[in-house]
Amino acid sequence: MKILVLEGSPHKKGSSNTLAEQFIKGAEEAGHNVKVLDVAHMNIHPCQGCDACGMRGSCVQNDDMQIVEQEMRSADMVAFVSPIYYFGMSAQLKLVIDRFYSFNSSISGKGLKTVLIAAAWDSNPKTLGYLKDHYLGICNYLGFEDCGMILGTGCGTASMTRGTAHMDAAYKLGKSI
Ligand SMILES: Cc1cc2nc3c(=O)[nH]c(=O)nc-3n(C[C@H](O)[C@H](O)[C@H](O)COP(=O)(O)O)c2cc1C
Repeated sequence: MKILVLEGSPHKKGSSNTLAEQFIKGAEEAGHNVKVLDVAHMNIHPCQGCDACGMRGSCVQNDDMQIVEQEMRSADMVAFVSPIYYFGMSAQLKLVIDRFYSFNSSISGKGLKTVLIAAAWDSNPKTLGYLKDHYLGICNYLGFEDCGMILGTGCGTASMTRGTAHMDAAYKLGKSI
């Protein structure tokens, strides 16, 4: 299976990418082909809402979203990786999801498998509930099959993250795919 990992943190070696690394290790050991796109550091602009694409055509913007689209089309699974920013995903990841709009009809109902990997400073599980609901709403709308979530509470920094049980959970999630 081809797994596309979309990393949405400005911290290349931060908490969420530390968890993603564990997930990738497990997935690769299980024999999957993993492709990582650090979308937070790619040249991707927000959707302009111009509707020129009609949700099924080319986007008028010529940027790195074309790379994401190409990888999405050939992926069997997408892993969404993000820090928690004000109870939601990072703007860096959200704008990529907004850009799904131009190829919405191609990915909708394709039965794409997905996972969510998120890192928050707070150790209260309620902190991640809002993102969990948002993610599940997107899955429901686009017909994605959720295959698991790593809701990383107490993951304020990469070193804090390495001391949590979320590391092993992320590895096991990858291995179970
Ligand atoms: C703009 C901003 C907003 C944040 N909002 C929250 C929040 O709502 N809840 C929380 O627990 N942590 C919050 N944090 C902390 C980050 O989620 C946390 O430090 C996380 O480990 C960062 O992950 P990263 O290293 O993968 O970027 C916020 C950090 C920033 C910079």
